[in-house]
Amino acid sequence: MSETTLKPREHWSGSLGFILAAAGSAIGLGNIWKFPYITGENGGGAFVLVYLLCIAIIGLPVMICEIAVGRRTQRNPVGAFHELSPPTSLVAHGIGLAVLLTGLSLLVFRTWGWGVVLTVLGLLIFRFGWTVAGFMGVLAGFTILSFYSVVAGWTIGYIVEALAGRLRFAEVAEAESFFGTFMQDPRWAIGCHLVFMAMCVAIVYGGVRKGIERWSKILMPLLLLLIMALIIRSVTLPGAVEGVRFFLRPDFSRINAHSILVALGHAFFSLSLGMGAMITYGSYMDRDQNILGAAFSIVVLDTLIALMAGFAIFPAVFAYGFRPGAGPGLVFIVLPTVFHRMPLGIFWAALFFVLLLIAALTSGISLLEVVTAFFVDERKWPRHRAALVLGAAIALLGVLCAVSVADWSRLAALQTTLTWAFGTARDSFFDLMDHISSNWLLPLGGLLISVFVGWIWGTKRAVDEIRHGSQNFADVHLVSLLAGLKDDPSHNASVHIVTLASLWGIFIRFISPVAVLIAFLHTVGWLDFKSSPPEMPPPATEAPAWPSAAE
Ligand code: TRP
Repeated sequence: MSETTLKPREHWSGSLGFILAAAGSAIGLGNIWKFPYITGENGGGAFVLVYLLCIAIIGLPVMICEIAVGRRTQRNPVGAFHELSPPTSLVAHGIGLAVLLTGLSLLVFRTWGWGVVLTVLGLLIFRFGWTVAGFMGVLAGFTILSFYSVVAGWTIGYIVEALAGRLRFAEVAEAESFFGTFMQDPRWAIGCHLVFMAMCVAIVYGGVRKGIERWSKILMPLLLLLIMALIIRSVTLPGAVEGVRFFLRPDFSRINAHSILVALGHAFFSLSLGMGAMITYGSYMDRDQNILGAAFSIVVLDTLIALMAGFAIFPAVFAYGFRPGAGPGLVFIVLPTVFHRMPLGIFWAALFFVLLLIAALTSGISLLEVVTAFFVDERKWPRHRAALVLGAAIALLGVLCAVSVADWSRLAALQTTLTWAFGTARDSFFDLMDHISSNWLLPLGGLLISVFVGWIWGTKRAVDEIRHGSQNFADVHLVSLLAGLKDDPSHNASVHIVTLASLWGIFIRFISPVAVLIAFLHTVGWLDFKSSPPEMPPPATEAPAWPSAAE
């Protein structure tokens, strides 16, 4: 392994450290806020089943892929792609040239924005080949964290407001106008966003072991405790059964192509896949650690917390006779109203927003770490400088999100420029950052990583890496495993019919790329199933729907 950095790379202290940090990255606002509500919208229990399927056949294989790439190269996503890609790839040159020509022809037709983007992209692909996939990941770190941190900031603001006793709403309408005023007030929106960014920077500044791992080990168990307390409170309310029923009753009539793609898109976002977060965390792993076991634990934890969030939220919402609204309304508008009706409401509200903050924080640090690792590895910046400078840069981008989320026209010059260049500036800068990352960078990144591992680096070399530390688990005959005869001598002879490794290889080469490609074409609107779920409840609020992944 070529180690160019002078200091040896920092590693997790053990498997537990890695699993908690990676689970911390995966478990975020996506689990606690988005999963319960898209489940409610797409058929409850039936959607949960589809989601579990997406997690198992796409999420888990891609997670294994990213971790293996990271551990093999001991690098950030850019360095990782660079190290594993062949010196000259004809395919990359061809694609680069095609993108470049498309860009140039768009410029000829005066489609300036896309023309410039594609021309630059084409040049980059031509020059750097596969490494561009790594650059996209780093870029996604910037764009995602810029809007993620604004929402995370709201949770800080709501903790303060709850403790100050200001979250007293008799009706949802009151909570709605409060939320509107709150997020439009730049002192709150920007101030809380900056506090959140400062927390992320402080943790990443501390390094892998003393920062990320130490805090994950404190925050993740705390998160589990908080969510359990909330579930107990919620399901013991009179009338809670209705909510459990709403969350779990399978309504297969609502499952269609659209909802399947929503599930797939969310599986990617929720597991932090598609931008190299798991490559980066995997790069701090020792070779004797078990990738399969770790990936499995991370996926199970992420799914578990998502389901638990549903049990914490819906029973309470229904117990007080509310409808689960769509969008951020559920968490920032309906829930505060629900809590207000509970005995000790202030306490439960504060607890809930602390939970949300913890989930957001461990995800935020993974996003900042991707960007930081890139500058530390490739540009040889000291970690302290990288964390501070990049954190500040993202914070600045986030200020634009925070200011514009309520009203684009506050940044009229930027809005006009973008509209001139691209024909649209979307609803706000916040919405734009969300759109670029959720609809373009993440799905494309997921597609590229599976094609790269499946066909360029090769499943053979990847499996070699996965085998280290997995005690040959990858080669266990699946039929013997299911029959409980894993170690039976006659069953593990050289007959490899279906092993975990071969199954994984097939998924990575064929199933994931095709599934992700379809999902991607759907999100960007080039493939239209024209079938949104029937009878969607009307959105509770005009606030921005976030995140828009696969919507
Ligand atoms: N997984 C996080 C969530 O569910 C969000 C997140 C953190 C993320 N890091 C990521 C998403 C990297 C994609 C890529 O909220």
